[in-house]
Amino acid sequence: MKINFSEKTGLDIYRSQFPGLKNKFYFNYAGQGVMPQQALAAIAKSQEYLQEIGPYSNERNHWSAEETDKTRKAIASELGVSPKTITLTENTTGSCNIPLWGLDWQPGDHLLMTDSEHPGVIAAVQELQRRFKIEVSVCPLTITLNQEDPVDTIEQYLRPNTRLLVLSHVLWNTGQLLPLDRIMQLCHQLNQQPEHSGFRNQIKVLIDAAQSVGMLPLNLTEIGVDFYGFTGHKWWGGPVGVGALYIHPDVQKKLHPTFIGWRGLLFDQTENPVGWQPDGRKFELATSAYPLYSGLREAIVLHHQWGTAEERYQRILKLSQYLWEKLTKITGVLCLCNAPPETGLVSFQVEPTLLEPRVSYETMVQILENHKIMVRWIPHPNCLRACVHYFTLKSEIDRLVYAIEDFLN
Ligand SMILES: Cc1ncc(COP(=O)(O)O)c(C=O)c1O
Repeated sequence: MKINFSEKTGLDIYRSQFPGLKNKFYFNYAGQGVMPQQALAAIAKSQEYLQEIGPYSNERNHWSAEETDKTRKAIASELGVSPKTITLTENTTGSCNIPLWGLDWQPGDHLLMTDSEHPGVIAAVQELQRRFKIEVSVCPLTITLNQEDPVDTIEQYLRPNTRLLVLSHVLWNTGQLLPLDRIMQLCHQLNQQPEHSGFRNQIKVLIDAAQSVGMLPLNLTEIGVDFYGFTGHKWWGGPVGVGALYIHPDVQKKLHPTFIGWRGLLFDQTENPVGWQPDGRKFELATSAYPLYSGLREAIVLHHQWGTAEERYQRILKLSQYLWEKLTKITGVLCLCNAPPETGLVSFQVEPTLLEPRVSYETMVQILENHKIMVRWIPHPNCLRACVHYFTLKSEIDRLVYAIEDFLN
């Protein structure tokens, strides 16, 4: 297959700011986004500045405190929350581990999660179960993609002793967008029930937001979620190594830190720790790769230059619909969604007789990658996943579709 990068539009000029888009057809935004040149430059500049003023000095300490502050503010503004509710971490999984281990678990407490969570979160929950003798159950949400209301399923699985509900805002395997506002309404309702029902103020909700931050317009204050953990390196296209956790202010005060280090502490004049930081810093740890923070902020600034979060999401929907429609027309290809997807993640299967015994999905991914087309294999349910961002070109989608048709013929 010959690669043709001839499409020259305004979007092409915008896209030229992303070096990662130059030599390939990229559909793996849910794995890792592409970083804009501005972000790469900001990181390099920060690294050099760090050497100039330090690398360790009072000025450096001042600078890194300012960088962390600015980054918390930039992230908070994207989520519609106060910067005080934001804890900087390194990735989604680290963020989710903070509430998972910070709750005061008692034997017999119940944790409910969905059957579409990411392996790191599943493993952490299993270890909690082993250590604290908690009850864990898994509610089947994967099958609610085209039928049934996921909120009904969650309601059936919640119990009076449920302390934590763990779920992803956007399921990483099927791309399903869960109705978080309705799920939160349900939990808030149960938490308001009279004391004898056992539910009162029990259920906290932890959201794995790896696939929603940077793709969906968000206002966490309106949704009223307890914990929202995410990374900057996927849909925001920030550097690998900067993530964050939102904690609702009412919960923040009561939650114990999981990882403990100097960044979370208050000190007296002789540097003795005397308490916790009064905000999201309470859950931060220690020295970080501070120059990366400027990279994430630059990436966020650039997205705003293209359009609002709502405009970007609407464009993602148009493009995922375009891809979905084209895929559904290929004989032997079955999109997991019966209707146009509500996110930028488009998962699809290939008629087994067309695939096996010739090749598996893994080899199909490799063959596409040999042609500079990047998608990924998802094991559960067994399928391929192609993601579109707001700056994806229709011609890129055409290329992917053509390559799949070519492969199946
Ligand atoms: C839903 C979900 N959670 C967690 C992760 C892991 O992300 P991180 O490496 O930022 O912890 C991923 C990565 O793809 C994901 O899709």
